Amino acid sequence: MVKVGVAGYGVIGQRLADGVARQKDMCLVGIADLAPTLSIRALKERGMPYALYLVEGADKAKFDQAGIPVSGTFADLIGKVDIMLDSSPGGVGAKNKELYAKAGVKAIFQGGEKNTVADVFFHGYANYEKGYGASYLKLTSCNTTGLIRSVDCLDRAYGLDRVAITIIRRVADPGDYHRGLTNALEIDRAPSHQAVDLMSIMPHIEATGILVHTPVTHGHIITVLAHAKKGRITKDQALEAFKTHDRIRVVRIEDGFRGNASFFRYARDLGNPRGDMYEIGLWEDCIVESGDNIMYAINIPQESVTIPETMDGIRAALKMQPDSKSATAETNKYLGMARWKQG
Ligand SMILES: NC(=O)c1ccc[n+]([C@@H]2O[C@H](COP(=O)([O-])OP(=O)(O)OC[C@H]3O[C@@H](n4cnc5c(N)ncnc54)[C@H](O)[C@@H]3O)[C@@H](O)[C@H]2O)c1
Repeated sequence: MVKVGVAGYGVIGQRLADGVARQKDMCLVGIADLAPTLSIRALKERGMPYALYLVEGADKAKFDQAGIPVSGTFADLIGKVDIMLDSSPGGVGAKNKELYAKAGVKAIFQGGEKNTVADVFFHGYANYEKGYGASYLKLTSCNTTGLIRSVDCLDRAYGLDRVAITIIRRVADPGDYHRGLTNALEIDRAPSHQAVDLMSIMPHIEATGILVHTPVTHGHIITVLAHAKKGRITKDQALEAFKTHDRIRVVRIEDGFRGNASFFRYARDLGNPRGDMYEIGLWEDCIVESGDNIMYAINIPQESVTIPETMDGIRAALKMQPDSKSATAETNKYLGMARWKQG
């Protein structure tokens, strides 16, 4: 049984902890954080299903005051695991890496860290084999994770050489008061980092794109214009490929999936904790052909989309499965992916 720890029990960290707890071939040893945040307080109210360790700088008295049991120090946690999933705030992971390196423990970092923090910039489908046995992986950001799932899906089925994307990006997570109360759109300098990141993981595809921030919190939407290496991809061919992918949920507007909020509401109706969705959504009625290009739109549930690919990262780094196909199949089985296909 592979032993895993999580550093930073925030938006991503609590979902990583849940994700690991669901993998029957992994054991979640514990989580580490700095402050008695709402997420930590909720953990205590749930009976501390995960052991808590404190990172350096944490004020233990504050945890004691709140009656939150503490199981030890960050070093104690690192000493008990095979791999750390670091989901501390962007930039902090690079500092934590020094502790992981000293203890000889592998680690997976999230999108907010610089690429230089890791040996391999990783995606469970597109470059699993590169991460095989690696000591330090960095996961793609939420948008890039979902984007690559869909681009890799078409690329494997038909071969792509070019994509152009537009990202309509949620500006904050629910409850992010520090981002302010906004009512404006803001555009980033092009090309967006997600297009550049895609090329770093899939160098055979030329990618570019534009990103627009929007004052919403429930998911990003990305439109993708993709060009095949040879010939052209029809709408039916694209749909056929997307429907076979276990991390892509194909939906229709006419069934009620009108936008990002529909996915969030549907996830809550399914009873998914926090309204999480591991899969990206893809609208069947928004796949269109334009000359030699195929165009489609996907929904990215930013808080939970990177969890499956992070589980794949554990499998790669610790050589649990030899290739993407077998690794993603294990992760998907334990996370209950593609239940929607069984009706
Ligand atoms: N929020 C998203 O939608 C999203 C999506 C994909 C990737 N990411 C990436 O995931 C990472 C974490 O983002 P988040 O949104 O979960 O942040 P967050 O602010 O919600 O959580 C960070 C947690 O780390 C804790 N922390 C602070 N200092 C620490 C330290 N020294 N060691 C350990 N923990 C510490 C904080 O108390 C907090 O609980 C970032 O790299 C981010 O870019 C975020």
